[in-house]
Amino acid sequence: MQASSSGLNQARRLLRAPSRAWWGSLPLRVVGTTLLGTLLVLMFGGWLLQEQAAAGIQQGKVLSALAEASTALDIIESSLRDSTSQASSTQTITRVASAAVDRGSVSGQYLVLVSLPTSEVRTPKLDPSSVPASLRQTVQDSVNANDSKLYSTSTEVRYRDGTLSVPGVVVGAVVGSSGANRYPVYFVFPMSQEQSTLRVVQQALISTGLAVALGMIIIAYWVSRAVITPVRSARQAAERLASGQLADRMPVRGTDDLARLAVSMNYMASELQHRIRQLEELSRLQQRFVADVSHELRTPLTTVRLAADVIYDAHDSFPALENRSAVLMRRELDRFEALLADLLEISRFDAGAAELTLDEQDLSELVRTEVDALRTLAATRGVDLELMVPETSCGADIDQRRIGRVLRNLLTNAIEHGEGRPVEIEVAQNQTAVAVTVRDHGVGFDADDSHNVFERFWRADRARARSLGGTGLGLAIAMEDVRLHGGNLAAWGRPMRGAQFRVTLPRRHGTPIASSPLPLVPRDLPRRRPVAKAIGRAEK
Ligand SMILES: Nc1ncnc2c1ncn2[C@@H]1O[C@H](COP(=O)(O)OP(=O)(O)OP(=O)(O)O)[C@@H](O)[C@H]1O
Ligand SMILES: [Mg+2]
Repeated sequence: MQASSSGLNQARRLLRAPSRAWWGSLPLRVVGTTLLGTLLVLMFGGWLLQEQAAAGIQQGKVLSALAEASTALDIIESSLRDSTSQASSTQTITRVASAAVDRGSVSGQYLVLVSLPTSEVRTPKLDPSSVPASLRQTVQDSVNANDSKLYSTSTEVRYRDGTLSVPGVVVGAVVGSSGANRYPVYFVFPMSQEQSTLRVVQQALISTGLAVALGMIIIAYWVSRAVITPVRSARQAAERLASGQLADRMPVRGTDDLARLAVSMNYMASELQHRIRQLEELSRLQQRFVADVSHELRTPLTTVRLAADVIYDAHDSFPALENRSAVLMRRELDRFEALLADLLEISRFDAGAAELTLDEQDLSELVRTEVDALRTLAATRGVDLELMVPETSCGADIDQRRIGRVLRNLLTNAIEHGEGRPVEIEVAQNQTAVAVTVRDHGVGFDADDSHNVFERFWRADRARARSLGGTGLGLAIAMEDVRLHGGNLAAWGRPMRGAQFRVTLPRRHGTPIASSPLPLVPRDLPRRRPVAKAIGRAEK
């Protein structure tokens, strides 16, 4: 069953191959259409030419046949007039007719048939059926009407000696003086010579047609190449531009439309290059500004921190209002410091200065450490952290500091948005990758926001009271950390049905991930529709 369907598919592919080749190659289409058009024109022109040549030859033959027949008739008439009167009229006409037959045979121009009352005198090899019955009738009528006109018609000349029949012209007339002594005579002119002339013309037409068709193919191919080459180079230039080689330009030759296309492409490329440079410069300036500001803020912040710590240490002795202010100041300073640290980290990513410190690590162990560290915090929110790790170790090349930070953020987010419901953490591995998922059953987010959550400073609900984290940079940094490892970070969420985040890392740094060991859509959901959107490096 499977074999027959694969055979069917192969047959279908084979059938579609010509159509694919036709629509996939412009030169093939140009050459094909030119060839077809040329052949049609040549066939029609050849047919017209041949018809005209045949008609001309036929007409010429009729004229020469009439002239020849008229001369032969004159000879017969004069022979009849000169004959002695002792012989019977039948004997005389038989003799004269035989002489005419001999003259025809000697000249090789025509065959003769003389119809006598009881017999026929004719060239021996001539089949009498070569003279059409209609002409016989016409000439017979002429005998009775006593006129002396010449009648001609075309015919198929047949031979009694087995020679193939050929087209020809037959001229009929009447000889003799009057009444019973008038006899129908037919001169049959085969057109063998003319036939071979026509065949030569036909052969010449065919060979000329083939030469013209070949010439047209070569010209069409050459023209299509002349057009396609600049179009191809425009396409390659566009592809090079798209791949970031903005300095590439098309060569401009001449002043025609193709040259103008090249000029436009080059103009577009230089404009694009200019704009991109401007944007890069702007972006570099912005990054630099953020990095500088963050850096510059660190020194005053350290001083403020020291002063705030001194104040905080003594806050118990303050009156209630001052006491509260000291606590608030310390909390906001914590957040400020965290924000500055995140901004500096982001600047490092933007500047391409982030570096990995890889070690062979057991991901399960790392996850366990981070989960344990957050158990107290989870307990204060009434959240139960459920950890599922495989029995075997999940070793991979990991930067412990970065992946620890990613896990901390995912766990903190789940605790914060988990609405006090349990958070499940699962670790798994396969041949090429290790993965961890963090699933909560809290507020979740719209399916369309599954990629927005990774944007800098993005928050589902900006008005929502925040007690944990809060800079809105956590997932953006996590995404960069995971990408640096060559892995991917993906999110799934539904409003009020919770969220699941999945980190997948390659086991060996630099090797591709064939597939993630864990699904992105939570297992506890009925898996009807694939609605999740994966962010990060594409997986097979
Ligand atoms: N588990 C989750 N459930 C629902 N929404 C979430 C979850 N995780 C993240 N989000 C949404 O994504 C936003 C961005 O998260 P992110 O971790 O980047 O920032 P944050 O937690 O607000 O601040 P921080 O930088 O301290 O981590 C959150 O503000 C929240 O709206
Ligand atoms: Mg966070």
